[in-house]
Amino acid sequence: QSVPVLTIDGPSGSGKGTISRLVAEHLGWRLLDSGALYRAVGYAAGMAGLDLSDAEAVTRCAQTTRIQFRAATHDGETRVIVNGHDATDELRTETAGAAASAIASIPTVRQALVDLQLGFRKAPGLVADGRDMGTVIFPDAAYKVFLTASAAERAKRRYKQLKEKGLSVTLASLQSEIEARDARDASRAVAPLKPARDAVLVDTTGMGIEDVVAEVLAVVNP
Ligand code: C5P
Repeated sequence: QSVPVLTIDGPSGSGKGTISRLVAEHLGWRLLDSGALYRAVGYAAGMAGLDLSDAEAVTRCAQTTRIQFRAATHDGETRVIVNGHDATDELRTETAGAAASAIASIPTVRQALVDLQLGFRKAPGLVADGRDMGTVIFPDAAYKVFLTASAAERAKRRYKQLKEKGLSVTLASLQSEIEARDARDASRAVAPLKPARDAVLVDTTGMGIEDVVAEVLAVVNP
């Protein structure tokens, strides 16, 4: 029997990150935050002074960047170590999100991250958070969810999240940045953001976290 996988895909601000973490904790399964991998490569490419549209250079960067996840110590947040440097704070900015989205449209960059992602599939199970978890990386997953929410609500959530982390942003600029990023993610030729045919759609607009967690858990244990 293969290790069970629950894929949770959706646009930014749909609540994927929080929901995936809580569901993984509840099930006692491992968690793959695939967005962090693309953010890490975008960050490493930026640090190396690469032109993010230089497919060859960025692909080499994706193949050689060391990305480690370190379990949270005190604040419940997993740290992301890129080439030995704790880049957690730099990675959560919208600038890092935009860089991730730019390099994520390069097919060979996506290819370079496949084995790393497949390696997260270990007993007793895996919750995989991303854009193409159910469509490309784990098409055979037993459980697939696609989370959505209205653009206004997603911008508001991201705004609150970034504010809590002490970052200075305006709601209006954040909303237009998020819309631009989602439009690019949804329209790219390779692994576009879209629900798998067999995914359960959950619109989280107006829903509390606990209710969304319960709906997602019901997909695994109906
Ligand atoms: O989920 P997160 O906002 O951290 O993802 C950052 C960017 O990485 C997304 O906008 C998307 O372009 C890219 N990404 C992707 N495939 C994934 C996860 C993230 O292309 N599985």
